[in-house]
Amino acid sequence: MTNRVLRWGLLSTARINRALITPLLGSTRNRLAAVASRTRDKADAYAKENNIPRAFGSYEAMLADPDIDVIYNPLPNHLHAAWTIQAAQAGKHVLCEKPLAIAVQEVEAMADAAAACKVVVAEAFMYRHHPQTLKVKELLDSGAIGKLRVVKGAFTFNLTREVDVRLDPAMGGGSVWDLGCYPISYARTMVGAEPLEAFGWQVPGKTGVDETFTGQLRFPGDVLAQFDCGFRAPFRAHMELVGSEGCITVPTPFRPGLNETILLTRHDKTESIAMAGQALYSGEVEDMADAVLDGKAPRVTLADSRANVAAMLALLQSAREGRPVTVG
Ligand SMILES: NC(=O)c1ccc[n+]([C@@H]2O[C@H](COP(=O)([O-])OP(=O)(O)OC[C@H]3O[C@@H](n4cnc5c(N)ncnc54)[C@H](OP(=O)(O)O)[C@@H]3O)[C@@H](O)[C@H]2O)c1
Repeated sequence: MTNRVLRWGLLSTARINRALITPLLGSTRNRLAAVASRTRDKADAYAKENNIPRAFGSYEAMLADPDIDVIYNPLPNHLHAAWTIQAAQAGKHVLCEKPLAIAVQEVEAMADAAAACKVVVAEAFMYRHHPQTLKVKELLDSGAIGKLRVVKGAFTFNLTREVDVRLDPAMGGGSVWDLGCYPISYARTMVGAEPLEAFGWQVPGKTGVDETFTGQLRFPGDVLAQFDCGFRAPFRAHMELVGSEGCITVPTPFRPGLNETILLTRHDKTESIAMAGQALYSGEVEDMADAVLDGKAPRVTLADSRANVAAMLALLQSAREGRPVTVG
C-alpha cells in the first residue's frame, strides 16, 4: 500500500482550506484532487483559482466519486459529524476540522461509522503534530519541571465579521468550540489524563454564544488547568506549564512555525530552548497518510477527540448552570 498516493477532496470552499493546499501540493504521498461546493459555479471558480484538477457541484457527488480517497471536512461545526459519517459510509477516509463534533454522541457515531466502514477518521488538530508540542511533552515527561501542578493558557482574537459561523449557536458557534478547544486539548495532552471536573464562566454575545470564557479543569493527581478564550480581545495565544521544580512557557503553542523557542525556568534561571519546527499543517496531512497507507493509529485518536468534546460540554454546562460539573 505504501506506494499509493492519497487523492484528497476538499469538502467546501471554506477559508481554512488554504492551510491544507500547500502541504498537499508538497507531499509525496498525498495529492489534492478535487474540491466540492454547494454550488457548481463556486466549485469551478475555486478549483480554477487554486489549480485543483476537479470540481464538484455538490458534496454528494464528490463522496460518490471512486477516485477520491480522503475527504477534508472543514464545514461549520454542526455539520462535522453528519458529513464525516456520510463520507465514511462512502468508503472515504476523513480528516475533520476541530472541534470534531459538538456532542459526545456524535463522536461515538463517527467512531462507529469509521469502524464499520474500515476507514480512518481523525480530527485536524494541527498543533499536535508539530515538533514543538512533542518537545514540550518530552520535557514534562522527563521531569524537567518536577511534578506538574498547573496548566494555564489562552486563545483570543477580535472577531470583526458581523456574520460568521462562529457567532451562530445553531452551527456550533462560540469561543469554547472555536478557540477553547486548543488550550483544553493542550492541557489534556500535557497532563496525559482526562479532567474529572469543570468550572466555567461565560459572557454571551448578542447571538447567545459565549464570546468570552474562562474555564478551569481539575485533573487526577491534583493537577489544575485554567484558560480563557474569546472573540472580544486582541490576538493572544500562549500556554504555561507549572511544576514543582520550574515552569515551561510556550509563547506560540497553537500555531507554531518553522523556528520556535520555548522557555524553561528552573532554580530562578530561564533557558531559551530553540528548535526547528515544520510547516504547521503538513503534520496532520502526513499523519493521515501514515494512518491510511501504513496502518498506524492517527496521533489524535477518536477517544482523544471524544474526551476533548466531553470537557468542552462540561465547561459550557458549568457556565450555564453556575456550578462545577463532572466531566462525562
Ligand atoms: N485548524 C485550524 O487552524 C482552523 C482554522 C480556522 C477554522 N477551522 C475550522 O474549520 C471549520 C471552518 O471554518 P472556516 O472559518 O474556514 O469557515 P468558513 O470559511 O465559513 O467555511 C465554511 C464552509 O462550509 C460550507 N457550508 C456548508 N453549509 C454551510 C452553512 N449552512 N453555512 C455556512 N457555510 C456552509 C461553505 O462552503 P461551500 O459554500 O463551498 O459549500 C463554507 O465556505 C470550522 O470547523 C473551524 O473550527 C480550523
